[in-house]
Amino acid sequence: MRAVDIIQKKREGGELDRAELAFFIDGYVAGRIPEYQVSAWLMAVFLKGMSSVEAAALTDVMLHSGKVMDLSGITGPFVDKHSTGGVGDKVSLILAPMVAACGIKVPMMSGRALGHTGGTLDKLESIPGYRTGLSEADFRAFIEQDGFAMTGQTAEIVPADKKLYALRDVTATVESIPLITASILSKKVAEGAEALVFDVKSGPGAFMKTPERAEALARSLVSTGTAMGKRIVSVITDMTEPLGLKVGNFLEVEETLDCLENAGPEDLMEVTYRLGAWMLVAGGVAKTVEEGERLCRKSIRTGIARELFMANVRRQGGQPERLLELRGNYRAKDSYEVLAPTGGFIQAIDAYKIGLAGVYLGVGRDTALDPVYPDVGFVLDKKTGAAVLAGERLATVYGKDAASLEAVKALVASAYAIGPGAPARRPLILKEISAI
Ligand code: URA
Repeated sequence: MRAVDIIQKKREGGELDRAELAFFIDGYVAGRIPEYQVSAWLMAVFLKGMSSVEAAALTDVMLHSGKVMDLSGITGPFVDKHSTGGVGDKVSLILAPMVAACGIKVPMMSGRALGHTGGTLDKLESIPGYRTGLSEADFRAFIEQDGFAMTGQTAEIVPADKKLYALRDVTATVESIPLITASILSKKVAEGAEALVFDVKSGPGAFMKTPERAEALARSLVSTGTAMGKRIVSVITDMTEPLGLKVGNFLEVEETLDCLENAGPEDLMEVTYRLGAWMLVAGGVAKTVEEGERLCRKSIRTGIARELFMANVRRQGGQPERLLELRGNYRAKDSYEVLAPTGGFIQAIDAYKIGLAGVYLGVGRDTALDPVYPDVGFVLDKKTGAAVLAGERLATVYGKDAASLEAVKALVASAYAIGPGAPARRPLILKEISAI
């Protein structure tokens, strides 16, 4: 086999088989196939696409480039959720204890903030002492004890993705649906999940900016994941405005506590309950999404989900008492208030602009090495559809320093559109694609 023949076959629109993909990807990871050939292949895939059988084979080859979590000996069902990334999206933190309380085991491996979207690990690490770099033994033990554990992806998980993603980033091939599918699915399957629920975000604050692109990715995740023998559901949700009322790291942990105490914002809970319900269906704990939703609501209402969250905080090195002391007080000293320039109704709050401003403030990062800050971000007083008076406070913004606040003022102001008349309510759950 020769790398050049594989590139040529793909360039002509041919379908690569598993042996060819294994030769190519394993050769790249081992340093036998140079980056210039992989770059050419990536562009050929970008332009010609892949069938779902081919994408499943690529996913499988990538998955086996590293370690696959062994959860044998623990009673399942093992179900996880993955979001393609949003602004104010703290759903994972609420969802994991909520569905664990219903009998699902959640082996959650998450990522860090990058660009305008937040990262679950950065949010969790804003809890003093909380460890996200769990050993495999701890990861297994915590799942067994509390029903879920939350850790980062180690270097041994899908090393092929780390190399390929870095190369895609500099060859303008990130936005390929089969490459995104294989990248996301290989990492999720490696954590040991038998069933997966994908929250594919759609809108200006999302990776997929249009409903068509979001649906293409949602369908690809379902067909490729199903071809790999997993039970898969994709839920497409709106990411036009930030989810919930808080955007930040510790700020989002605070809002998680509100949700676990049955006092969360409506939009955030609507998405959380829907995804949770699908996880219960995917895991066989509920027969219908309606039944799943009822069980999820009960686990919140009874406080069992909150108890499990606190148990996990302690288990992973955080101090629940300290967390409660900091609640409502852990704020950067530099802040300003966003005031409504005119009266009317909020027509839109641009999630992308808020997310981008978050990078300057220290919520997120531009490059993987940038530091993030626990106590910065946004507390929104009002969301789209609310009536406001001229001069009324719309939000409070906390930044790592005064200069970061100055840098975002115009951007944040431009994120708000205020006009006469209440806008029509946008649906949050846009589409559901299920293969179970
Ligand atoms: N997220 C991933 O993990 N991989 C991609 O390719 C795109 C988004």
